[in-house]
Amino acid sequence: MKLLIDDANIQAIRELYEFYPIDGVTTNPSILAKAGRPPFAVLREIRDFIGPEADLHVQAVAPTAEGMAEDARRITGELGEKTLVKIPCIPEGFKAMKALRELGVRTTGTAVYTPMQAFLAARCGAEYVAPYINRIDNMGFDGIAVAREIQDIFARNGMSASILAASFKNSQQVLELCKYGVGAATAAPDVIRALVKNPAIDAAVDAFVSDFEKLTGVRAMTDCE
Ligand code: E4P
Repeated sequence: MKLLIDDANIQAIRELYEFYPIDGVTTNPSILAKAGRPPFAVLREIRDFIGPEADLHVQAVAPTAEGMAEDARRITGELGEKTLVKIPCIPEGFKAMKALRELGVRTTGTAVYTPMQAFLAARCGAEYVAPYINRIDNMGFDGIAVAREIQDIFARNGMSASILAASFKNSQQVLELCKYGVGAATAAPDVIRALVKNPAIDAAVDAFVSDFEKLTGVRAMTDCE
């Protein structure tokens, strides 16, 4: 399962890339609004940092299929051909995905709340589909179960599309999908940092260092006799 950062804050992205096995970055219009700067300035900064080959998912905002295709042209023109254009899984979006497939543009079907949206997006050529795990949970349904159903539908229909699970609020949700082997998960910086936030882990590591220090008086192998 690939792990991506669902954020546009370059400091947070740099920090997480330093410590974790990160495969790319996803954004949406609300995330870009939070950044509060011209969108393409922010997105170019991210692309320059992660490199031309890394997965960068950027959402089209136009309401019509033709407008989404135009947005896709601008996005890939500014950020490189490898950039995945997120297209909402609505009728206009499906039309746009089919047109973009013909042009060789990579797409991610987004705003996925139901398995049928995911199936249709995959049929229209989406490379990824993004079920919103926590938002589905908040509606009183089971986001993890929806993602699993999508994974099963893809497998049983011989579809090559992958899941890019999104909208996480805790590490258990990420773990459940990791166990199921979905293609990718994208999470906010705080959720990624919380993946290994555990007092028992810290206590174990601290005890090793402290025992070693008692023995040698130093805190590193390189400094002891
Ligand atoms: C991804 O495609 C979504 O834009 C995003 O992950 C939604 O996350 P949220 O529910 O935390 O806003």
